[in-house]
Amino acid sequence: MICTLEKTVEKTIINGHLLICADVFEGLSLIPDDSVDLVFVDPPYNIGKIFHNTHDKWKNDDDYLNWCYKWIDICIKKIKKNGSMYIMTSTQFMPYFDIYIRNKLSILSRIVWAYDSSGVQAKKYFGSMYEPILFCVKDEKNYCFNSDAILVEAKTGAKRKLIDYRKPIPTPYNTEKVPGNVWDFARVRYRMEEYENHPTQKPTALLERIIKASSNEGDTILDPFSGSFTTSFVANELGRKSIGIDISDEYYKIGLRRVLGIKEHNGESTEREPKIYEIKNTSEQMSLFERAK
Ligand SMILES: C[S@@+](CC[C@H](N)C(=O)[O-])C[C@H]1O[C@@H](n2cnc3c(N)ncnc32)[C@H](O)[C@@H]1O
Repeated sequence: MICTLEKTVEKTIINGHLLICADVFEGLSLIPDDSVDLVFVDPPYNIGKIFHNTHDKWKNDDDYLNWCYKWIDICIKKIKKNGSMYIMTSTQFMPYFDIYIRNKLSILSRIVWAYDSSGVQAKKYFGSMYEPILFCVKDEKNYCFNSDAILVEAKTGAKRKLIDYRKPIPTPYNTEKVPGNVWDFARVRYRMEEYENHPTQKPTALLERIIKASSNEGDTILDPFSGSFTTSFVANELGRKSIGIDISDEYYKIGLRRVLGIKEHNGESTEREPKIYEIKNTSEQMSLFERAK
């Protein structure tokens, strides 16, 4: 990968949440095998995004995939025998992940996270409006899936209030159901309360569904590419424990504040920068604008 800075490992653990600032392989080496109930992986996608201290573009596809296969294997070792993994990547690389992982875990769902995007306006082809997610388990006969915790409205019963007359006694359709594999969650926007200064922050609603479905209170959830530490944040809200790793100390600082409530790190404030519309003074607005460029 281009432009990874040399760095040492830094970690903080409070109330069952371990935050690690390190390269993924160093971070994973600190975690015992067979120790986590759920892994959520949202790695760099090899599509050229600039993260704080890394550039998400490899020399060629094979380099990217070989790098991924190495941490996928390690992540699988960290999962307990009844645990699960949700893994994302770009649409173009997901078929490779799928073929690689299906020999190691049981893939139970191929999920499409679909969203509306005014930013993607391809004119000569169909713009990408979804991201794929694989839901995999170690043991397909014995794994955690709390369907009651993630029910969504079933329109036929809830909105249209239809009755099923094919049953021996006519019965109203259910008003709730387990969601299918097409998920509709808004992407994180600048004006949203949960917004952090990270280019690919995942919505808390997406992680809520995953964590509620595939873990129980007190379970441990690992996210080896934590970014803005959404997984650890949601794990904390839902009474789970977490381990989050990211190579960027800027993103680590976001995690320290967001998950652990730490206000200062190495003499620097961890506070989120005010949003442009929160600042009244025009010269302060301009300097924030300049820094964001
Ligand atoms: C797609 S983002 C994760 C976003 C995260 N799910 C969120 O909700 O904010 C990928 C993250 O991987 C981190 N990263 C890139 N290379 C890494 C490496 N070698 N080891 C650890 N983290 C890395 C980047 O800093 C970036 O934050």
